[in-house]
Amino acid sequence: MNPIRSIKGTHDILPVDSHNWQTLESIVRKICARFGYNEIRTPVFEETRLFSRSVGEETDIVSKEMYSWEDKDGTSLTLRPELTASVVRSFIQHNLGRQAPLQRLYYMGPLFRRERPQKGRQRQFHQFGIEAFGSENPEQDAEIIAIAWHILDECGLRKEAMLQLNSIGSPKCRLAYHDALKNYIRPNLDKFSETSRMRFEINPLRILDTKAEHEQKLLVGGPTVSDYYTDEDKVHFETLKKFLDAMNIPFNINSKLVRGLDYYSRTVFEFTSPALGAQDALLGGGRYDKLVEALGGKSTPGIGFAAGMERFLIAMKNTVQQSEESNIDVYFVCLDEAGLSTALSISNELRQAGYSLVSDPLRRSMKAQMREANKSGAKFALILGETEMETDSIVLKNLKDGKQEIIQQKNVKDELRKLTN
Ligand code: HAM
Repeated sequence: MNPIRSIKGTHDILPVDSHNWQTLESIVRKICARFGYNEIRTPVFEETRLFSRSVGEETDIVSKEMYSWEDKDGTSLTLRPELTASVVRSFIQHNLGRQAPLQRLYYMGPLFRRERPQKGRQRQFHQFGIEAFGSENPEQDAEIIAIAWHILDECGLRKEAMLQLNSIGSPKCRLAYHDALKNYIRPNLDKFSETSRMRFEINPLRILDTKAEHEQKLLVGGPTVSDYYTDEDKVHFETLKKFLDAMNIPFNINSKLVRGLDYYSRTVFEFTSPALGAQDALLGGGRYDKLVEALGGKSTPGIGFAAGMERFLIAMKNTVQQSEESNIDVYFVCLDEAGLSTALSISNELRQAGYSLVSDPLRRSMKAQMREANKSGAKFALILGETEMETDSIVLKNLKDGKQEIIQQKNVKDELRKLTN
């Protein structure tokens, strides 16, 4: 029988890599705490309509990429393709808006999209992200971008990451812009792809997202959304830019940046990295002032971003020195089956006292066990043989300088403490 393999586009995270994941996770937790954000964890599957209503029916994510199935009672369920919708659902369900005027949340976890796998694009991937509810002011936008900036900085990616920034205006502005864009495109509509023609009907702004060169050419000279900003939109965007300048966060205004999800209004942004190749977005986000209301909650502004953790780790490979240091304190070498109970008892006591300790359950020779002890990077070895068993003693060896002494078993903890303090 052929061995069973993992599903295309999904990956195991093996011990050689999990240290890097933990480094990234701890950076995210540290920076989020520094900004007063608290973690939220939501289920990996939700009702399908949560995503179709928020992300948008005709987006790639909802129309092509969701893993959905019908549950026994006929409800359509979906493995979450993104987390903003789930967080908004939870925010509404638990009345978080009533508990405090501002809710600052962060999350980490797996997401699922049936995309064509390539470098930096998986079918199961991981994001960390943040969402802030309650403020529509540009200082909130600045805070969100600053969090991304601090995380990138801690990850050694500040220099290579470039902030692409745009405002797609408020819904009022977009209504006028959509009309103008449609009028501009209409005479050439038959030259556009089926996807773009569908976007023309449902969300014309997203036609700007087209990757087809001939469509991009047809769009040159068309109206830009900034011509249709309301006065408030203008002030909001200009103030955000001023705040970013004040924090020395460089940005590039990219009027083509519209993002692939329908819920955005005003600020949208991405941090991109040339190290990633075709899939160059490290993270993306924006403001979604109408989403809470659209999903049945009390009108509440919101803004956030999510970052691809696999993409962060690809980019970090070039920048961060990976630490190889072992965190094992003691390797227990037991040379005789009769000593196993004593070995287990001492091991238990030391672990309870906070030491990390590994032992060899293969009952190998002294030579083989000592080889493993050195390979493990442990600082000390405890060696228990027949002679030591007879005298209630044990050998404590410093694996760094090779010095060893015979001590009483009952004193192991104290002797180790002396050497490690
Ligand atoms: P998104 O742009 O769809 O936004 O995804 C955010 C990030 O997730 C991307 O920039 C990328 O780094 C990573 N990503 C997306 N798809 C894949 C994939 N197939 N494989 C690997 N990485 C991927 C959102 O998900 C929004 N919920 C962001 C947001 C939060 N907006 C407001 N709040």
